Amino acid sequence: MKYGPILIGAATLIVAGFGAAAYTNSLPEAAARYTASGDLIFPKDYREWVFLTSGVNMTYSEQASGMNHDMVDNVFVDPVSWQAFKKTGKWPEGTMLIKEPRMGAHEGSISKGGTFQTEEVFGLEVHVKDSKRFKDGWAFFVHSDGQPAQMIPGDAECYSCHKASGAVDTTFVQFYPTAKPVAVKAGTFDAAK
Ligand code: HEC
Repeated sequence: MKYGPILIGAATLIVAGFGAAAYTNSLPEAAARYTASGDLIFPKDYREWVFLTSGVNMTYSEQASGMNHDMVDNVFVDPVSWQAFKKTGKWPEGTMLIKEPRMGAHEGSISKGGTFQTEEVFGLEVHVKDSKRFKDGWAFFVHSDGQPAQMIPGDAECYSCHKASGAVDTTFVQFYPTAKPVAVKAGTFDAAK
């Protein structure tokens, strides 16, 4: 009986320890994973990740886009990299950011105006930081069917625009309202972009 409280205390510690381990393991994938041939394995649970922004009909040139429908882009980041970013204002190795372009609609159910998002998703774009694997530190992949996807070649326009205009390490943190103040405070934000 004398040892009762000590044993209960130890048992509580062990249970708490297991709880912490189970929690860590249940976090969505932290790091990018690849097939043997170097394709990116699509992180199917990205919808459980941290939400950064939604952009509606964003265009990047003076010319009219010619689109006759609305597009809404949702941007997510894997939660483990987000935790690191919040502390340092830098994306750690293994960071994955996803842009999910969705078809917008105006009228449906009780909605008469404005824009809401529909189930129709176009190619999912993934931006991956992995300096050991990619010469410029980052690479893009596009997934249309949830299958492993090949890297977009380094001379594509994706890379030049992100490099020239992304305010933090080739990412568009200037458009991510909860990430921007973190980077500004950490001194990793390029205000000229
Ligand atoms: C002319 C500039 C430009 C080009 C070209 C471009 N992007 Fe982007 N990209 C942006 C902007 C601006 C955002 C922020 C979007 C938002 O706020 O919704 C963005 C965001 C992203 C994101 C979210 C993560 C991040 O890096 O900020 C991904 C992923 C992405 N783009 C993939 C691509 C891919 C793949 C291509 C090429 C097929 C591409 N982009 C071409 C301007 C560009």
